[in-house]
Amino acid sequence: MTRRAVIQATGSYLPKKILTNADMESIVDTSSEWIEQRSGIKQRHIGAENETTADLAIAAARDALDSGNIAPDSIDCIIVATTTPDQTFPSVAVKVQAALNIPQCIAFDVQAVCTGFVYALGVANSFIISGQARNILVIGAEMMSKILNWEDRTTCVLFGDGAGAVVLQADENVQGTLDDRGIFSSHLHANGAQKDLLYVDGGPSSTQTTGHIVMQGKEVFKYAVQYMSDVVKETLAANDITPDQIDWLVPHQANIRIIESTAKKLGMGMDKVVVTVDQHGNTSAASIPLALDNAVKGGKIKRGDMILIEGMGGGLTWGAVLARF
Ligand code: UT7
Repeated sequence: MTRRAVIQATGSYLPKKILTNADMESIVDTSSEWIEQRSGIKQRHIGAENETTADLAIAAARDALDSGNIAPDSIDCIIVATTTPDQTFPSVAVKVQAALNIPQCIAFDVQAVCTGFVYALGVANSFIISGQARNILVIGAEMMSKILNWEDRTTCVLFGDGAGAVVLQADENVQGTLDDRGIFSSHLHANGAQKDLLYVDGGPSSTQTTGHIVMQGKEVFKYAVQYMSDVVKETLAANDITPDQIDWLVPHQANIRIIESTAKKLGMGMDKVVVTVDQHGNTSAASIPLALDNAVKGGKIKRGDMILIEGMGGGLTWGAVLARF
């Protein structure tokens, strides 16, 4: 029997407060032009003082459930991709479960930084294919503002807060071809030898503090361009398809130049690429589900469209997922 994990609904949530590039000029020695030219970012959302990652995740999950008219008690698994949990434990996932009154189910967080949502989708897909779960809430939620060094202009201008969610549902009535709706494959990678290119300088077992983001931007940029191109090629080859069969590229939103480079290598026009980095900045694990929901609610991505999701981040980690929406 062929079983597929179908993306039935999407949702998102962005904190109300917006910091524009002009606002950043009063925080660090930077300029609107530098930020926009080097990254494509124009503004980012920043969570309120008392807002937590779980608050964002819960709001995005509610939006996804409402959008798909899906009952919370049908959910049998919750996976939250985050690198900024409210507490070391319990997971953000169990907080979502409690807030939405979801009965006993599987619930856990995945930590793969900016690739977190791609990893979470891969894990959720495996759970559905193996029959371990049927209705999975997959969420990417981050409060990057809480782990930024607001005196480091090389990082603090790049990140933002937000959350996105999808509901994946098992479908057994499929043909086992590329005409099916649902996920066809996931491709997940990591190279721990590159862990020092992008990290947080704190943690429970080392400093007993949360720490702040440290990044060798130029190096990360170089590998991002290479890994995105590699994993996209790998995904196309694994499914024996060509770039013209992809309706939408939904990339991690870190830098417009990385996104443009991947699209160019695929021979895809930017009119086929979902771009939200200008409005959201880099929201780490939240960026892909935020972009996806933005494109779905904005009428760009429609039922039946072939979408290629790809991302990379600290670790270094990277990956891609091919699905028919
Ligand atoms: O999501 C996880 C993955 N992360 C990424 O994909 C991020 C990858 N990296 C990048 O997106 C880019 O490398 C950045 C946007 C972070 C930086 O762009 P860049 O073109 O690589 O700039 P750079 O780091 O080479 O810096 C160029 C200059 C430097 O000055 P000098 O040494 O040339 O005099 C920096 O000190 O720009 C300076 N600079 C700034 N100037 C104004 C660095 N940050 C700023 C700033 N405002 N905020």
